[in-house]
Amino acid sequence: MGTFVITGGASGIGKAIADKLRDDGHNCLSLDLQTADIVADLSSPAGRQQAAKDIEAATAGELSGLVTSAGVGSHLPDMGLITEVNYFGTVELVEALRPLLARNRASVLLVSSNSAPMPTNDDFVDRLLDGDREAARALAESMHGQQVYSGTKQAVTRWMRRHTVACAEAGIRINAIGPGYTRTPLSLAAEDHPQYGEAIKQFIATIPIGRPGQPEDMAEAASFLLSERASFICGAMLYVDGGHDAMMRPDAL
Ligand code: NAI
Repeated sequence: MGTFVITGGASGIGKAIADKLRDDGHNCLSLDLQTADIVADLSSPAGRQQAAKDIEAATAGELSGLVTSAGVGSHLPDMGLITEVNYFGTVELVEALRPLLARNRASVLLVSSNSAPMPTNDDFVDRLLDGDREAARALAESMHGQQVYSGTKQAVTRWMRRHTVACAEAGIRINAIGPGYTRTPLSLAAEDHPQYGEAIKQFIATIPIGRPGQPEDMAEAASFLLSERASFICGAMLYVDGGHDAMMRPDAL
C-alpha cells in the first residue's frame, strides 16, 4: 500500500477520493488551502513550488500517486484565479514533482471536466499550453467565466496527452477523469448563483442517467485508475458523467 497526495483534498471530489483511497488501505495526504495535511496555495508560481517541496518532505520521498483535484468554479468573477488554479495549479505541480514521481514509478490522476471539449477561446488554450501565463491571463480577462473554465480543463487534458509518452518512459502512468455535473460545495455555489443557477438546473435535468454525479462516483473511478488493475490504461480521459458527453457529442471519439 502506498502514499497518495490529493490536491483539493479537503472538499468535494478530492475529499471523496482521499476517503476511498484510505478505504483501499493507502496512506493519503490532503493538500488544500486549509484543513489539510499539507496547507498550500496553488494559485501562484511560488505557492506551487513550495507545495512541491512540502509534498516531498511530508511523504519522505515515498509517493505512489498524485491526484490533482484542486480547482475553482466558472461562476467566480476572478478570471486570473480560474486560470492559475485550474491549469497552472495542475500542470506546474506535476512538473515540479516529476523527478519524485519518476523515482517512485507513480501514478497520476488529473481531475479535468466533461466541459473540456465545450466551446472556448482557442488562443487562450494555446497560450496555456505554451506556458505563457501573462498572455493567457490577459486573454482570460476578455472571456466569459464558463469559457475560461472550459479552456483550462481542455488545456489540462491536452497537456496530459502531450506528456503521456514522456511520463510513461519515465515510469509515470498519467490519466484524467472528466467529471460531469457533481454535487459538491463548488457546484452547489454555482447552482445558487443568481445569474447562472437556472441554466445549471436545466443542464442537470438533461443528464442521461437521470441524476447528478456524487463525489463517490468520481472516487470509484479514481481508485480503479490509480490501481494496478488499470496498469495498461495510460493517457486516457475517462468521462464520469452519466452519459452527458456522449449525449452532447455523439459522433466524437
Ligand atoms: P470543491 O470546491 O468541493 O473542492 C475544490 C477544493 O480545491 C477545495 O477544497 C478548495 O479549497 C481547493 N482549492 C481551491 N483553490 C485552491 C488553491 N489555490 N490551492 C489549493 N487548493 C485550492 O470542488 P469540487 O467540485 O470537488 O471540484 C474538484 C475538481 O473537480 C475541480 O478541479 C473542478 O473543476 C472539478 N470538476 C468538478 C465538477 C463538479 O460538478 N463539481 C465537474 C467537473 C469537474
